[in-house]
Amino acid sequence: MSSDSDSVVHDFVIGSDHAGIERKKEIKDFLSERGLSFLDVGTNSSDSVDYPDFAKAVGKKILEGKAKQGILICGTGIGMSITANKISGIRAALAVTPFMGEMGRAHNNANVLCLGARIVDFATTQQIVEAWLNASFEGGRHERRVEKMEDHP
Ligand code: RB5
Repeated sequence: MSSDSDSVVHDFVIGSDHAGIERKKEIKDFLSERGLSFLDVGTNSSDSVDYPDFAKAVGKKILEGKAKQGILICGTGIGMSITANKISGIRAALAVTPFMGEMGRAHNNANVLCLGARIVDFATTQQIVEAWLNASFEGGRHERRVEKMEDHP
């Protein structure tokens, strides 16, 4: 499902730049196969675009309560994660292994998963997303640490 109605809170909001568009299609199919709903904020073509625009669009949907979590894909995942992490309330985890996907949820309570389409193949990407889906925030000592992320020096 990819419709955007006010009453629906989607499982995910997903965005990519041109470098991540093919991987985004694969991930959307992967989510659909698991019965997970998503909003796609673009990009929608292979034309060169600026990744911060899509990181901000994903962060905005989460803060507006339109989706529970986000997935961002660019060439490396780095630009998406830097941008998303500048948004207060967004905790973006760049993951290149399934363990990083798991820990991003379990220890960091990340609400956005960042992926590098030029770094990780789709087989590994599926494992990363699966690990993310199977993990949940452990709380406890991690709660205190996550709260400190919002502190300013
Ligand atoms: C686009 O060429 C590339 O810079 C972008 O996808 C991303 O890797 C940036 O972090």
